[in-house]
Amino acid sequence: MDCKLNESISWVGHVDWTIRDFHGYNTSRGSTYNAYLIQDESPTLVDTVKAAFAPELIRKLSALGELSSIRYLVCNHAEPDHSGSLPRLVQACPHAEVVCNEKCRTALGLHYDTAHWKFRIVKDGETLRIGKRTLQFIDTPMVHWPESMFTYVPEDRLLFSMDAFGQHVASSFRFDDQNDLDMVLEEAKTYYANIVMLYAQPIRRTLERAASLPIDMVAPSHGVIWRTHFGKILAAYKDWVLGRSKPKVLIVYDTMWQSTERLAQTILEGAQESNVDARVLNARTSSLTEIATESLDAAVFAFGSPTLNQTLMPQMAAVLSYLKGLKPSGKSGFAFGSYGWAKGAATEIELSLKSMNFEMLRPALTCQFKPGPDTLEEAREAGRMMARKALSVATQ
Ligand code: FEO
Repeated sequence: MDCKLNESISWVGHVDWTIRDFHGYNTSRGSTYNAYLIQDESPTLVDTVKAAFAPELIRKLSALGELSSIRYLVCNHAEPDHSGSLPRLVQACPHAEVVCNEKCRTALGLHYDTAHWKFRIVKDGETLRIGKRTLQFIDTPMVHWPESMFTYVPEDRLLFSMDAFGQHVASSFRFDDQNDLDMVLEEAKTYYANIVMLYAQPIRRTLERAASLPIDMVAPSHGVIWRTHFGKILAAYKDWVLGRSKPKVLIVYDTMWQSTERLAQTILEGAQESNVDARVLNARTSSLTEIATESLDAAVFAFGSPTLNQTLMPQMAAVLSYLKGLKPSGKSGFAFGSYGWAKGAATEIELSLKSMNFEMLRPALTCQFKPGPDTLEEAREAGRMMARKALSVATQ
């Protein structure tokens, strides 16, 4: 495995091949926690790994002969997937200072017993000379936590970008050009949709700041390092932060006795009469992770649920709750679903969509028990309308 970014900088992280649930995120391709050792006059470790993998990180640093000489432990982000090994590292590196901003010091103090840690607090834009190199620290609040920052090395034109541009991917290959690029970009999209979509505006400001930096390589804290195709992920981020949608229709439903499913399929058929990317997902057979990812670039939505106990079915409630937290913007849609002797589901869905500032395209499409021919024709027409809307949004 090639672990050298250049002659002086090594990847010393952990590849987590078997993780499939990252605080609820379905990590079907595993993950990595990237840490980087800069071997200069003042050896510096940039970020750590989850606590469970601290012994491996310490072994790697020992093999490079740097453990006792490490001078700085840079903490770009206090979330435990990156800071979890800091308590062990602070013990193992008696001469090291933890380099972070003030908010990060506070956050670390709430996670760990930091009473005896030596801190070097850095401000936004501050630099730290470590020998031939300079580290420049750039605050990136809410990318992904309030204390997050980037570390930039001008001499190497290298940006340690923390969660930004990351992907949950386990691989034996560290660099973008050694992996299947389509797979990496798909995982970067999944990461963006599920972790940072709600922080689009802070990310936009961060991208604007980072645009002035000469960059040859971007080393995030998860997944592959961008050394050849950074332009591709940067272009994708620019679309995502602007909330740009594709001519894409997404229908998400749950069903009890296949009536709402029949409506979903008929809406799909109506949308497919036009040249749009129309997709349908069952809320109980697709993960929240997948639904959020498909939502990122979809323009128009239909959410369907039968009425159960005068409200919507639980998994559809979970879908809407999850999406609401991710704050999708510029979307439109409507609710649909069957009911028996009492209504409720469609109204609940409409309330959720309105709370997410969706443009409501039409009143809820409902039927009692089974959809008859008139309702199915109404569903087909609703699908056609979704397609027209998706095409109009995508050309704006
Ligand atoms: Fe990968 Fe926000 O931590």
